[in-house]
Amino acid sequence: TEKIYILGIESSCDDTAASVMLNGRILSNIVASQKIHEEYGGVVPELASRAHQQNIVPVVDQALKKAGISKNQLHAVAFTRGPGLMGSLLVGTSFAKSLAYGLDIPLIDVNHMQAHILAHFIEEADFVKPPFPFLAMTISGGHTQIVKVSSYFDLEVIGETIDDAVGEAFDKSGKILGLGYPAGPEIDRRAKLGNPKAFKFTKPKVGGLNFSFSGLKTGILYFIQRETKVNPNFIEENINDICASIQYTIIGILIDKLKLATKETGITHIAIGGGVSANTGIRQALKDGEQKFGWTTYVPKFEYTTDNAAMIAIVGYLKYLEGHFSEQTISASPRLKI
Ligand code: KG4
Ligand code: ZN
Repeated sequence: TEKIYILGIESSCDDTAASVMLNGRILSNIVASQKIHEEYGGVVPELASRAHQQNIVPVVDQALKKAGISKNQLHAVAFTRGPGLMGSLLVGTSFAKSLAYGLDIPLIDVNHMQAHILAHFIEEADFVKPPFPFLAMTISGGHTQIVKVSSYFDLEVIGETIDDAVGEAFDKSGKILGLGYPAGPEIDRRAKLGNPKAFKFTKPKVGGLNFSFSGLKTGILYFIQRETKVNPNFIEENINDICASIQYTIIGILIDKLKLATKETGITHIAIGGGVSANTGIRQALKDGEQKFGWTTYVPKFEYTTDNAAMIAIVGYLKYLEGHFSEQTISASPRLKI
């Protein structure tokens, strides 16, 4: 069979990433994470675009080198068009356009949210791909969505957050507790050592399959303020129980919505993606769902769940096979929808 090499480029938030794919298999998957944002407790857009501009050529160079090919062997350049931060997207978009133009090969625009989902179709030994139709839940620092996936290119958002993303719920709770940024992994680690039912937080009342996390954050803030007034050492003395209780509440919210989504659609195959799918409590709850509710769940390899370019390359490859190419006049789109 013909050998099709696709370069994927991702720069929507604070990771500069490039990946080379050969017929659906990953040859290289390079990510330069920007440490600069840690000291600010969140992503600073201006700093992110500047770091992307510094990183993009070295990252692409490394991806090509690791794959063992020269850029002249590429068949197409795929890039993240959106959603994401405008300044960040512009760097990847402009670079991809110039490279495709210079090499005189097709340019392929990719929707970042679609890519998180189609990451499940990267060719991997021993990995079972979800069958169509399936439900995809994308949970990260920037997104929270449930999508009905009927084919590679037929996706329908059936629920999403109306305010904060689930990763923000972890990170903002962590900030209240004085944990570092991002706090998700630390809350996960401490939750294992605590009692998930020690403290009770109210779940948001948001209709249908949509999510809301900003009320939970406020509830946690008021709870902590109230308790520390009585006992200034409340956080230190209860940190593991607090983390376990917060994580338990968040998982409950996600699982409730998945239960409703499977009921409404009749679809029981569930694939997850996004950085928060690393959470061990969520993974366990999904496994339990297989027993309790008859679900079949799909969790991709960790490096394909957080922001990466391999997921951009797989969408690029699938679009390449269909001849779905972009015009050279295309521009970045920060609020791009599925
Ligand atoms: O996908 P990602 O790397 O970047 C984007 O936001 O697009 O996701 C990062 C988010 C952060 O909010 C981080 O706190 C969260 O994923 N996260 C976790 C865990 N690992 C990462 N949240 C809970 N438990 C974890 N183990
Ligand atoms: Zn993402």
